[in-house]
Amino acid sequence: MLLDKDILDEKDKRLHKASEEVTFPMDEKDKKMIEEMIEHLTLSQIPEESEKYDLRPGMGLAAIQVGIPKRYFVVVYEVDDGEFENYIMINPKIVSASNEMIYVEDGEGCLSVNRPTEGIVPRHARITMEGFDTEGNPIKYRVREDLAIAFQHEFDHLNGILFTDKIDKKDPFKGKDKYRAI
Ligand code: NI
Repeated sequence: MLLDKDILDEKDKRLHKASEEVTFPMDEKDKKMIEEMIEHLTLSQIPEESEKYDLRPGMGLAAIQVGIPKRYFVVVYEVDDGEFENYIMINPKIVSASNEMIYVEDGEGCLSVNRPTEGIVPRHARITMEGFDTEGNPIKYRVREDLAIAFQHEFDHLNGILFTDKIDKKDPFKGKDKYRAI
C-alpha cells in the first residue's frame, strides 16, 4: 500500500513539471497505481485507518505525486459518513467553467505540501471536465463546490502547478470580497 512517505514533497522538482498524456491501452502498472491511490485516499479519510497507518487525510492525488509523470488523477469524495465516491480522470480537459469563483475558507491542502499555508486560491464554482477511464472510454463529469475545487487542484498538478503557486505572494488574501468562501 501507499504510505505518506511515498508521496513527493513540494521541494521535489518533478512536481513542478507538466506530465505527459497517457496512451491506451493503459499500462497495467498505472491501473494498479490508480487502485493504490484510491485505497490510500479512502483509508486516509477513515479516522481509525488514518491513525493506524499514520496517513494525512486527503481527497485527491495526481500520478506525479507518486513520481509518475502521466496525466491522471483520482479523487475520493466522502458523500456520507464512511461512504465514498471514487473519480478517476485520465488525460482530462476542462471544457467549461463557471464565471463564479469560490475558495476554501480554511485554505486548501495538498498531500505534497507539508507546512502550514494560508491564503486564497480562486477556483471556479462549477466545471465540466472530460477525460477517459482506465479502459480509454470517454467520460465527462460536471462538478461543483468542494468537488470542483478538488478536480481543479488535481488538474493543476498535471501541469506542474501547486495550490501554493496560486496564492498571491504579497497579499495572500487578495480578492477575498470578489469570491465566495466555502
Ligand atoms: Ni495536491
